[in-house]
Amino acid sequence: MAEVRLENVRKAYGKKVVYANLNLTIDDGECFTLLGPSGCGKTVLLRMAAGFEQPDAGTITVGGVTLSSPSERIFVPPDERSLGVVFQDYAVWPHMTVAENVRYPLVIQKVAKNEIDARTQDAIDNVNLTGLENRMPYQLSGGQQQRVALARALVAEPKLMLLDEPLTNLDAKLREEMRFEIRALQRKKGITVLYVTHDQEIALAISDRMAVLDENGNICRIGTPTDVFERPGNAFVFRFMGVANMIPADVRGRDIYARGTDVLLSKDAPAPVPSNPVLGCRPSDVDLVRDPGPGMPTARVRRVNLLGPIVDQRLEFAGMELRAQLDTHKAISRGLIFREGDMVGVNIANPLLFDSNTLEGVGSHE
Ligand SMILES: Nc1ncnc2c1ncn2[C@@H]1O[C@H](COP(=O)(O)OP(=O)(O)OP(=O)(O)O)[C@@H](O)[C@H]1O
Ligand SMILES: [Mg+2]
Repeated sequence: MAEVRLENVRKAYGKKVVYANLNLTIDDGECFTLLGPSGCGKTVLLRMAAGFEQPDAGTITVGGVTLSSPSERIFVPPDERSLGVVFQDYAVWPHMTVAENVRYPLVIQKVAKNEIDARTQDAIDNVNLTGLENRMPYQLSGGQQQRVALARALVAEPKLMLLDEPLTNLDAKLREEMRFEIRALQRKKGITVLYVTHDQEIALAISDRMAVLDENGNICRIGTPTDVFERPGNAFVFRFMGVANMIPADVRGRDIYARGTDVLLSKDAPAPVPSNPVLGCRPSDVDLVRDPGPGMPTARVRRVNLLGPIVDQRLEFAGMELRAQLDTHKAISRGLIFREGDMVGVNIANPLLFDSNTLEGVGSHE
């Protein structure tokens, strides 16, 4: 069992309160991601879980065992927590080869030599470092060092793995492969993973559940990736999950207008309507129409960028910039790649309403 519980955790450095009162439970066998902007406290949380930092107050338990609790004077040191850890700076032992780094946790555990050799090679192969077994860390690229750290964390098959941005230095293809590898191993072995990142794509791809932190270390939203993406709950989470159009709005009845205009954005306002509404939509939810019918809102195309599989079109709409993104093939086959200066019709699907004062969301249409 490796359920992780953080209860009423407080952590401050001088006047900087990173966590005022953090409560979070990660279920046994779950891949849980903590997503948040730089400086919000992700690494601090992992360091507390790993035992490199003591919380000022509160308790941290893993599998029902208390590892940190200042009020009870409990503090289990890192090497007694049997965790797999990959930190942001992927510290590998500089004086050991790749193979020596990876086998180290098994040597400490006094595993039989044959088994150590087999598991070490397996872990090295899993992270695509085959052939580099005898290199020293200084002879490796940043991404290769990162993979050594990952292999070293995986080799011991710990019950709990703490991963702090372990894939940042990898190229896109390798990042996707490693993401898949971590996920496959986690499922196969039933490992609990606490994964920390500021990259929403990784969070959405890898997690069973995820939590989004704001810059003050408050948990804004917890849920499955689809929950969080579809029902972000507030404007901060919505914007953090990808490119977002935010259009100040007036709501009359169920009609949503661009604020101060008669430009009708949607006839389907979700209730209740916030006092200072802002309509949020993804660029992929903005459909462009070549010959707009009467009454359809129109926009002027300002810039067209082909981004490989998608085409990104920036429009001037109701006095502000609106972004529309379309699958490139579809856009070409339907004649929807426009010229700069063209007037086009705009149709907004899946609008969300947020309150620009409180940043609270009011739900979505499904
Ligand atoms: N040892 C320390 N002493 C003082 N302040 C610290 C210490 N460690 C972290 N902080 C502060 O705590 C806050 C959270 O830091 P943390 O490293 O957890 O951020 P993060 O979310 O991991 O950011 P990033 O995505 O950039 O890695 C920051 O404001 C940081 O400056
Ligand atoms: Mg960090």
